Amino acid sequence: MTKSALAIATALLISGNVQADQSLQTSMEEGKGVIKAFFGDLKGELEKGMKQSGPVDTIASCNIVAPSLAAGHSQMSGWEVGRTSLKLRNQKNAPDAWEEAVLKEFETRKSAGEDPMKLIKAEIVEEGGREVFRMMKAIPTAEVCTKCHGETIAEPVAAKLDELYPSDKARGYKVGDLRGAFTLKKPM
Ligand code: HEC
Repeated sequence: MTKSALAIATALLISGNVQADQSLQTSMEEGKGVIKAFFGDLKGELEKGMKQSGPVDTIASCNIVAPSLAAGHSQMSGWEVGRTSLKLRNQKNAPDAWEEAVLKEFETRKSAGEDPMKLIKAEIVEEGGREVFRMMKAIPTAEVCTKCHGETIAEPVAAKLDELYPSDKARGYKVGDLRGAFTLKKPM
């Protein structure tokens, strides 16, 4: 290759990378907005439920409301929106290979001192010959979460969880632990 051809090839490679970086950044900002809206609705429903009817009835509504909110936000935004975890309550939220790797990476990064509120990962990956933008944001455990995901769960709450989720693994969390993550996906 001549020197100038090499220079052009290098320039193209660099501008290609810059473009990819820019579309990654743009998608990431968009994704953050989608997560914020989904999280806001979930939190609103949770707070309303806990205040008005207590944890036992809120479980029943989580069981229906959380998946339907995820579906609603997916439809609204054109993204696939969901929640996942390494220790699941609902098997339907099971992580795929990419998600499982990111959940483990979040645990490592948290152990290394990163702020769990800010753990985020975005990547353009190839799936079935197509480029797909994928993104996850960690969900740390707050005080209110321990009522249904904590180390000691009140009897009527535990009984309701046993009834709805016989293979529930999503218990034993302490405040600050990573409960799971939001997960988003969109074709590029
Ligand atoms: C009233 C009980 C209750 C409270 C309080 C609660 N959750 Fe849950 N959580 C549930 C139920 C029920 C499910 C299963 C929902 C479903 O079927 O998709 C669930 C599922 C999840 C999932 C999806 C992964 C999985 O295990 O299936 C995440 C992540 C999660 N909860 C995080 C939280 C966080 C963070 C908080 C606190 C802000 C919280 N939850 C508070 C009952 C609760």
